[in-house]
Parts: sequence; C-alpha cells; structure tokens
Amino acid sequence: MKLGVKHSLATRLSLSILAIIILSGLLFTAVGATTISKLTVNEAEERVRNDLNAARLIYSGKLDNIRLEAEFTGARTFIEEILLQKDTAQDYIDVLKSFKVNEKLDVLTFTDNKGIVVLRVSNPSVKGDDQSGQELVRAVLNRRAPAEGTVIISAKDLQNESPLLAEQAHFDFVDTPKARPRPETEESAGMMLMAAIPVFRGIGDFIGVVYAGVLLNRNFDIVDEVKQTVFQGAVYKGKDIGTATIFQDDVRISTNVHNSDGSRAIGTRIAADVYDQVVVQGKQYIGRAFVVNDWYISAYEPIKDYDGRIIGIQYVGILEKKYSDIRNQAILVFSGITFTGIVMSILMALLISRGISSSINKLVTASKQLANGNLEAKVSRVSNDELGELADTFNFMATALKDRDEKLKEYTKKKIMESERLALIGQLSANVAHELNNPLQGIVTYSHLLLEEETCNEDAKGNLQKIVVQANRCRDIIRGLLDFSRQKKPDKMLCNVNTLLQGCVSLVENQAAFQNIKMVLHLEENPPMVVLDPSQVERVFLNLIINAADAMDGNGTLTLTTKHNRENKTIEIKVQDTGHGISNESMEKIFDPFFTTKETGHGVGLGLAISYGIVKEHNGTISVESELGKGAAFTVSFPLVATLPG
Ligand SMILES: Nc1ncnc2c1ncn2[C@@H]1O[C@H](COP(=O)(O)OP(=O)(O)O)[C@@H](O)[C@H]1O
Ligand SMILES: [Mg+2]
Repeated sequence: MKLGVKHSLATRLSLSILAIIILSGLLFTAVGATTISKLTVNEAEERVRNDLNAARLIYSGKLDNIRLEAEFTGARTFIEEILLQKDTAQDYIDVLKSFKVNEKLDVLTFTDNKGIVVLRVSNPSVKGDDQSGQELVRAVLNRRAPAEGTVIISAKDLQNESPLLAEQAHFDFVDTPKARPRPETEESAGMMLMAAIPVFRGIGDFIGVVYAGVLLNRNFDIVDEVKQTVFQGAVYKGKDIGTATIFQDDVRISTNVHNSDGSRAIGTRIAADVYDQVVVQGKQYIGRAFVVNDWYISAYEPIKDYDGRIIGIQYVGILEKKYSDIRNQAILVFSGITFTGIVMSILMALLISRGISSSINKLVTASKQLANGNLEAKVSRVSNDELGELADTFNFMATALKDRDEKLKEYTKKKIMESERLALIGQLSANVAHELNNPLQGIVTYSHLLLEEETCNEDAKGNLQKIVVQANRCRDIIRGLLDFSRQKKPDKMLCNVNTLLQGCVSLVENQAAFQNIKMVLHLEENPPMVVLDPSQVERVFLNLIINAADAMDGNGTLTLTTKHNRENKTIEIKVQDTGHGISNESMEKIFDPFFTTKETGHGVGLGLAISYGIVKEHNGTISVESELGKGAAFTVSFPLVATLPG
C-alpha cells in the first residue's frame, strides 16, 4: 500500500512534467509551423505583387516603344506624300515594309484626316475603309494628340490588316476544368498594343493619322521578357519558377505556362473565381491559384482599353512548390530542433524527478529503520536544497535519539543495580542483626554479672569494661542495621522544616565537637508546612549536621538554609560545610550502606543510607555537591503536595 503511494508520487511527478513538456512542445511546433507558413506565404505574395508591377512596366514600355515608332514614322519626310496620296507614295512602301519588319510591328497604317485608310503597309491592297470608329484613331481625330493603349481588333479589321494576323489571332478554346461556362468555342478577334499619332503639315494643318500596333495573340515577346528579366528564367525541379500570361478576356493568348505535353497553354481559360474578381469586379487578385496543371502564387490584374473597359488580364505567378518546399524544410528543421529540445527536457526532467524520488526514498527507508529501532540509520546528503536540509535534520534527530537512548539505558541500569543491591543488603542485614542481637545481649548481661563479682581483679575488670563498651558498640551497629532494614512506615504530620532544623541545632550546639564551628542559618520566612514524619526527618538533618562537623574536624562554618522553591513546588533544606569535601570515587558510594571513610570506631557508614531511605519514603530527593578540599553541600528537598496518610 505504502509502496503503491510512493510509486504513484514518483510516476505522477514524471508524468506531469512529461505532459507539460510534450504539450508545450506540440503547441510550440504548431505555432511555429503556422508562423513559418504564414511568413512564407506573405513573402511569396509580396514578391509576386512586385513581379506584377515589373510586368506592368515591361508591358507599358512596349506600348511606349510602339508610340515612338509611330511618331518616328509620322515625322518622316515623305509622310505628306503618303497621307495626301501623291503618286510618289508607292516609292516608299518598301522602306516602310522593312521598317515594320525590323521594328517587329504587325500593323503600320495611315489614314487621312477623316480616318479613311490611305495605306496599310502590312496589306497595301486593302484601303479606303473608314477607321474613324477605331477608338485610338477616333481619339486622335478628336484631340489631335497621340493616343495609345490595348485594343481589341475585330476579326474583319484583322483580316483587312492582314489575313496572316487574323489567322494568328484565331483560337479554338481548350477545355479548362474550372473556367466559367461560355457558349462560344472560339475567339477570332485579336488584342493589340497600339499607338496612333496625328500628322500635321506646317503649323496646325492636320493631314492624317499614323497608327502602329503589335498583335498580342501568340506573341510571346512580352511574357518571355517578363520571365527573363523578372525571374531570370529560374527553374525549380525542371519547371519554370516564374510564369507570365496575357489574357484576352478569359482566354490565354500569350503565356509561358506550359501544358503537360510541353506546349504553351494557349487557348486555355482562366478559373471562374479569378475571372469574377479581376474582370467583373476590376480588382487585383493575389493568392494561390491552380494554373493549368500546377499551383502558383499568383497575381492578376485587369488590362483596360483606351476607354477604360476591361478587356483582358495580365498575370504573373511563382511556382508554389518552391515556396512550399522551403516552408516544409523550415518546418522540418524547426520541428527537429523542437523535438530535440523535447527529448532533452524529458531526459532532464526524468533525471531530476528520479533524483527527488530517490532522496525521498532514502528518507523513507531510513525513517523505517529508525522506527524499527536501528538508531544508526543515517541519510547521505544528496542535494543542497530543502531535501538536503531534511536529510540533515533527520540525521540530527537520529543522533539525538541515539544519545538519549544511551543515557536512558545507563540510567536505568544504574537504578536497577542500586535498588537490587539495597534490597539484598537490607534483607541480609536484618537477618544478621536479628541473629546477633540475642547473643550480644547475653555478652552484655554476663559481662555485667562478672563485673559485679568480688573475685574479679582490677585487670579483669578493665578488660570486662572494654568488652561491655565493644558490645554496646556492636549493639549500636545492629540497631542501625535494623533501623535501616526495617524501613519503618513514617508517621506523617504537618511540620515546619525551620522548627525541625532548629531543634537539631539546639541538640548539637553545646556538644564539644561543635565548639569551634560557626553555625549560620538562612531560614525561609514563614515556610509552607510540609507533611513529614518529624522524628525521621530530624534524624536525616542530624546525620547531615554530624557528617558536616566530622568533615570539618570541629573547625569551620556550617551553613543551614531552608528555601521555598516555588517553581518546583518543593521545600529545600541545604546543609553546607567547609570541610574536606568528597572525592570523585567516594561520591558514587556515599549513599551505600556501610560505606565510610572514617576510621574504625567513628563511623558505620549507615547514616546516609538511612537518610536516603527516609527521604525516598517522603517522595523527596537528596543530592550532594562537593569540591574536594573546600567542602560539601547536601540538599534535601520535599514536595509540598504530599498528602496526609489515612
Ligand atoms: N559533609 C561531608 N563531608 C565530607 N564527606 C562526607 C560528608 N558527609 C558524609 N561524608 C562521607 O560519606 C561517608 C558516609 O557517611 P555516613 O553514611 O554518614 O557514614 P559515617 O558517617 O558513619 O561514615 C562518610 O564516611 C564520609 O566519607
Ligand atoms: Mg555519618
């Protein structure tokens, strides 16, 4: 059960860290990938927008060129002869023809000041038709200023300009999946870049119009120039990166987008949605578009005629594959880095969580050992954090426990030995004393009888008296032994310790041994009454006082103190002398029965043993402090809460 909890803690720790890392890693990757995609798309769209601008410049540059050709022609010296249809006009046709070919013009035509054609360089046999309805010619007739633009030329007019041009312009529509539906199946009108200029004779005499044009249908000059200058003809995986197209209405009339067979995708039509935005609504379209058979980042804008009608579309597009590959590569690299990061974080997290759980495990194991009584259990400090501190605290606690345990053991051992010894000695001495008492009584009685005999000489008397004295001494010892061993039940009553102590003092102060001893009394004023056996306690005090006098050899200061210890709720009696003090070896034994340092005949060694017994019987304590050569102080302390018996 415990093991399960512990495991689930470590597992939970690792799992939650894992979850956080993986989730944030996924999120990071998702956000990163989206950002990269967006950036790539934006970048591609920005680029294609610029490319469209460049394409527009190339387109209008072509138009400028055509106007310059027309103006150059209009400034020719022989222009008047042609426009006014002089006979000499025929002479210049060849010059104009080669000019037209050199300058790659498809149309170079002259009208009079009414718009009636006077010469078609591309088709000199057809003339006299009215071109004043043609929008550029009309503009020049009206404003007498140059006009240029993209124009739609009808099939009939194209035919007039040249049957070859009509053929070049003609398209059969190619089926295109997304194109808008159209009833027609072919286109026979053409789209032309055209410029028309007025020609004057002298100052202000308007004599006619020159117009020049280039047919855009199947003419790849512009789209290929865009591809070369804007995209530098770059190729990606076998395909042109950049493509350009010119639409007439919705039909590709000039393009470098290729069909799958490699031919130019002419006659295919634009997707319906792009047509709607560019031709119907007249807006730019920038975005990805499926062109013929590939996706392109595309830009489309309308081509307007001189009158502002939308007649076609100009298009540039960059192969999306290149950008999507770049994007995919970036995403791959990014994901790779993120993945490596995730793996490294996971490894680190596992290491850390294993470290934490192993520290905890160590603590748990050590605690168990400690609980099972192994006080040697220790935890090695593994880290410098709170867990390390915990380990230190644990070790400190274990040491403290061990210390306390040892002291306790020692103390108990001592106590057990002490009480066993006392009990044994008590029992033994009671028996011995009892057995000795009667024979001793006999010795004393018979010695007295012998002393009274008249036949007894003085020598014998002296010896008999010695026998009596020694026998009496034996009796004293035996009495003491009996006192010690009988452990009489104390007869307790309320007493004043001051009175008891003073009683003892008056008993001894007149004795010879106390003549040169200075007695000092420090008595607690109005000490609380204590429940004691007065005669037993007096005996204790007397023992202590006599011992003190013995230790001072009849010379010194004896200080007697009583004190109410309010904190411990005890009354303390202290007997202090300035005697020879107690050596360290003696200190351990002074309360043992028969321990005495006094010479034979002076002490039996029972005084302190008896006193100890009495004090214990009163639930009190007796203790001693001593400095060898300076004196000793015995303190007896009785509890105040002792109850009266019965
Ligand atoms: N006040 C004291 N100063 C020095 N030693 C003392 C003092 N009181 C007791 N002792 C020592 O304790 C021993 C035991 O005392 P006690 O039990 O009264 O026996 P006794 O007085 O018969 O020797 C003494 O022999 C003495 O060595
Ligand atoms: Mg004594």
